[in-house]
Amino acid sequence: MSVFEAPDFDHHEAVAFFDDKASGLRAIIAIHSTALGPACGGTRMFKYATTEEALTDALRLSRGMSYKSAIANLPLGGGKAVVIGDPARDKTDALFLAYANAINTLAGRYVTAMDVGMTAKDMPVIARGTKYIAGFDQPGKAGGDSSPPTALGVFIGLKEAVKHRLGVDSTKGLLIAVQGLGKVGMNVARRLHEEGARLVVADVNDASTRHAADAFGAKVLPPDAIVTADCDVLSPNAMGAILNDVTIPQLHARVIAGAANNQLARDEHGKALQARGILYAPDYAINGGGIIRVAAQIYDWNDAEVERRVLTIGDTLREIFHRADVEGLPTNQIADRIAEERMAKKPAQAKAAE
Ligand code: NAI
Repeated sequence: MSVFEAPDFDHHEAVAFFDDKASGLRAIIAIHSTALGPACGGTRMFKYATTEEALTDALRLSRGMSYKSAIANLPLGGGKAVVIGDPARDKTDALFLAYANAINTLAGRYVTAMDVGMTAKDMPVIARGTKYIAGFDQPGKAGGDSSPPTALGVFIGLKEAVKHRLGVDSTKGLLIAVQGLGKVGMNVARRLHEEGARLVVADVNDASTRHAADAFGAKVLPPDAIVTADCDVLSPNAMGAILNDVTIPQLHARVIAGAANNQLARDEHGKALQARGILYAPDYAINGGGIIRVAAQIYDWNDAEVERRVLTIGDTLREIFHRADVEGLPTNQIADRIAEERMAKKPAQAKAAE
């Protein structure tokens, strides 16, 4: 398949293919845009069945990163790397060093971070070979754990959504369904509990639901019942594509605000939510705390600056909700527009990371 004709090609600035015979490395790095700064996005390692699948992921995910950084007002562009291989079997130091060299050939136009298939143990190995890496704990730098700022952004964004749709300043007394009690979801649940919200929760991990029941008085539902549970707000913090043809007609929530990536099965599901009067906080806008934390490592921002930027997620969502009302468009479309406007405003001159 030619890259230019690939269905997910969107005028990406560069798509680089790397092959290192000695280590077995096969990787694709896609740079969607450097309009706002160096292209940043995680490395995904996955046993792709075909090169086309790997290319599709790199193209689609790098574009998503351009939008995510732009909507978070960050001086970063969008990129993504995929390493073709089995994360359980194919990781070697030689492969990671060859991968680091691949990143170096882009001379700072791409800065990598962690994604599916990569762990906090792998990142320092790659970092031995490249400085264009962030989003993990590094000596002398701000912490790499992105889940606390992500959870703060979700909490702030959820409150903004509730204010807009339900006209209340606090979640006190609201019934909130939290799907997924991992690093982000548990933190969000705690914040909501502390503000006086009532919680229904679900997770495939029983220890997590037990903790939420004990610590927050949450009612536990089976995982397949949480999305359509009776509630005021649904906070998806587990997996993608949960808002789809099957679930949308059955939703009780009037507000959806959570960290999970790609919550809409397809873009047009944003319109279906709008038609049902459900206010959807676009996932990549509300979960921007993660990329803000990564940017903090690249630009050496302190925790106060991270928090200041995370709090602006509320302002961005307010703008999205307002424009969605005025223009009569779904919130996900408005978010895309705002991101595109922000990308278009800046000089299209690439600036590499130092
Ligand atoms: P995590 O892996 O710590 O937590 C996910 C939780 O969802 C786990 O407790 C897991 O058991 C649960 N889960 C899995 N399948 C489920 C199901 N069918 N029903 C209910 N629960 C289920 O991940 P983390 O870091 O908390 O992230 C949550 C979501 O937010 C993910 O979609 C992630 O991509 C997204 N996100 C996370 C960011 C971060 O900084 N951690 C940044 C931006 C997005």
